[in-house]
Amino acid sequence: MYSGQAIRVVFIAPPGSGKGTQAQMLEQKFNIRQLSTGDMLREKSKDKDALGKSIASYIGNGSYAPDDVMIAMLGERITQPDCINGFILDGFPRTMPQVHALDYMLVKQNMKLDHVIELVVDDAMLIERVSGRFTCGGCNKIYHDKYAPLIQENECDVCHAAEFKRREDDKPEILVKRLQDYHAFTRPLLAHYAANNLLRQINGMNEPEVVAASILQML
Ligand code: AP5
Ligand code: MG
Repeated sequence: MYSGQAIRVVFIAPPGSGKGTQAQMLEQKFNIRQLSTGDMLREKSKDKDALGKSIASYIGNGSYAPDDVMIAMLGERITQPDCINGFILDGFPRTMPQVHALDYMLVKQNMKLDHVIELVVDDAMLIERVSGRFTCGGCNKIYHDKYAPLIQENECDVCHAAEFKRREDDKPEILVKRLQDYHAFTRPLLAHYAANNLLRQINGMNEPEVVAASILQML
């Protein structure tokens, strides 16, 4: 049970499994930061410099960005004062070099992980979720046409903005590549965290509130 201490959680789970949805819930509940490397990259990809352009092309193709870029980005972010109560890593680490870099960063900051959460969802459901996803243009709140609709038509439940976005990399052909990369490069990382007794498997097939309740019970 949560006791008021810092909480540091990592989500390792496939595209569309609900990492962002659950991370946003934890952020609100415990006032700890959601650090979504996907969101950070999408923000960076708007820059007109060489790095911004190369990031836009990685994301657009559904390919992982280089480890050195990701490690520098995340390393800088977790030392910010708003991470003092903890953080939720949503999308990092995704490769073995990122795992080792995270281990090193945590030791250096005298921090430790509490839980690594795998949301277990089958591939058919992932495709359905990603194909109906949209997000608020104002606050990035995540919605779904069928599973997480707006309360009021054309108005964000949280910030009341009226602009919404759909992701370029949610096109079916790009999603297939993202899923393949997840299974090839990221899923194998779970064994590292299982060996360190940090891995918690959560059934992600249930409704968002039910998944959230399982996570809260575990914390
Ligand atoms: P990122 O943005 O992290 O994408 P992802 O890992 O593919 O995951 P998604 O954001 O697509 O899904 P999610 O699990 O967050 O699901 P969500 O909650 O939105 O990364 C994008 C790209 O950036 C990567 O492909 C890569 O190129 C690059 N990148 C990022 N990090 C990197 C790294 N560390 N190294 C290298 N490259 C990196 O939910 C999906 C939908 O389902 C929503 O519509 C939601 O409303 C709905 N939903 C959620 N939960 C439920 C539920 N329980 N029941 C029904 N519907 C639900
Ligand atoms: Mg996400």
